[in-house]
Amino acid sequence: MKNISKKIIIGNWKMNLNYKDSVILGKKIINNLKGRRIKNEVVILPDFSALSSISQIIKKPLVLGAQDIAKNKLGAYTGEVSLESLKQLNCSYILIGHSERRQYFFDDEMIADKMKNVLENSNITPILCIGETLGQKRSGKTLSVLEKQIKTAFSKIGKLANKKIIIAYEPVWAIGTGRVVTVADAIAIHKKIKSLVEKICHNNLPKELGIIYGGSVNINNFSNFKNCPDISGLLIGGTSLRVGDFLNIVNNF
Ligand code: PGA
Repeated sequence: MKNISKKIIIGNWKMNLNYKDSVILGKKIINNLKGRRIKNEVVILPDFSALSSISQIIKKPLVLGAQDIAKNKLGAYTGEVSLESLKQLNCSYILIGHSERRQYFFDDEMIADKMKNVLENSNITPILCIGETLGQKRSGKTLSVLEKQIKTAFSKIGKLANKKIIIAYEPVWAIGTGRVVTVADAIAIHKKIKSLVEKICHNNLPKELGIIYGGSVNINNFSNFKNCPDISGLLIGGTSLRVGDFLNIVNNF
């Protein structure tokens, strides 16, 4: 199992913008980055309504991803968006199991199926989100929670040999709160996540694994996570909505 070759910066826009504002933000980032040589992989995750419009104008090096995926392939599943559609829209990444989805939309039960759907039916890279709540952290359960989340996510998938997977460590208590994990904790936890994947998938390891940090990353703290062993990128929510700040991180991580 290799580390991903490039570091990755991902902007998760969540449901913060309406369709028109998403396209405006997308255009600004596209125009700034187009034709440039960027050493990091840069990904934006607009909401589903904006994916189609942005996919028609997006230019390298920027790439597109989706915030979620249906667990089933196609069929009578009202309100869902299929993997087939996301492939046609040239999504390179799909977020799975974001803590907001686990908290409000019962995603916990579906994560294994979503991972299986993406990995077995496409070459799209899943970004699996894991992380502990404040209560779990306080009671010393961080590592056991992460282990359970990783075990569940990988429980239904077949061969991983040719696959690339991103795991985003996002402590729930750090998301949108202004609180970030200490760098020492982040390094230790990322190392542990890597060894958990090695343990859980021991005879079926993915070709490439990237472990990235998310949770209140901003312009003042992102560089703390730079050049840290096993921290291969950032998943950025609120700050990714501010073009200048997002690009500053993209250019300097
Ligand atoms: P935040 O969100 O950067 O606003 O904390 C991160 C995320 O939820 O992915």
